[in-house]
Amino acid sequence: MSTQGNVALITGASSGIGEELARVFATYGFHLVLVARTEPRLQELAHTLRTQHHLQAFPIALDLSDPQGPARLQQKVLELGLTVDVLVNNAGFADFGEFARSDLAKQTQMIQLNITTLTELTHRFLPAMMERRRGYVLNVASTAAFMPGPLMSVYYATKAYVLSFSEAIREELKGSGVSVTALCPGPVATGFQSRAEMAGSRLLTNPLNPPTSPDKVAQAGYKALMRGQQLVIPGFVNQLQALAPRLLPRAMVPGMVRNAAARSH
Ligand SMILES: NC(=O)c1ccc[n+]([C@@H]2O[C@H](COP(=O)([O-])OP(=O)(O)OC[C@H]3O[C@@H](n4cnc5c(N)ncnc54)[C@H](OP(=O)(O)O)[C@@H]3O)[C@@H](O)[C@H]2O)c1
Repeated sequence: MSTQGNVALITGASSGIGEELARVFATYGFHLVLVARTEPRLQELAHTLRTQHHLQAFPIALDLSDPQGPARLQQKVLELGLTVDVLVNNAGFADFGEFARSDLAKQTQMIQLNITTLTELTHRFLPAMMERRRGYVLNVASTAAFMPGPLMSVYYATKAYVLSFSEAIREELKGSGVSVTALCPGPVATGFQSRAEMAGSRLLTNPLNPPTSPDKVAQAGYKALMRGQQLVIPGFVNQLQALAPRLLPRAMVPGMVRNAAARSH
């Protein structure tokens, strides 16, 4: 199948930030490849966006925490005859609680999805972008990328990886026509918190930093990507939170983050 116009591939498009990113890209006329596990939600979203915006939208249901997931996705994109102009690595999840008592399988699955799949998809889709001397990669990190995260230690570390990796390859790609942007949201009102079993965490009830809506985050990510920005942290309080660990003595930071995240009951 051939498409005229640009194609954005968005992982984790069945809900939350990814779904809103799909709506934003649709508004700007992109054709879409929508990836997640929950096929009915992808199909419904694809149908809605096709109808509203007269574009092509391809739902692909895949488990991206399966090590074969990225290769299968690339194969499906090839079979559809699509060229990916924008890769959005958004799929990710977290887990709340002490590391030593956590489910190890969940932690390794998180590393696989948040780090390995993101890295592999970038590696698989970059060469064609470089050949065309045109392309964009939006990697969804978090304000968690800027500090260690007691009670969500593996998650915060995966996001530190995403930010570091994105900034490094962005530098390598200068002059190639391919731009890489890291999107670093603070708390966002999505299904993320319940999936992470964060009920009772003070992170959900901080009056100074209530969760942002996913559509605002998606708009900010899209604009930053198209402007070629290195990173974007939507919201002033989130920007301060990302900056604070650099200004405070390093030894103080883990305890402060733990207090901010701990359950209030
Ligand atoms: N919400 C926040 O407070 C917040 C803050 C900072 C950063 N983030 C980051 O934003 C990104 C999106 O999260 P969200 O808040 O939008 O959460 P969400 O509503 O839970 O969405 C996560 C998306 O990832 C998909 N996904 C999860 N596991 C998958 C797998 N194994 N294979 C394929 N797709 C998978 C989910 O779809 P299926 O379940 O259908 O597969 C869903 O579409 C994540 O990377 C998250 O770390 C979120």
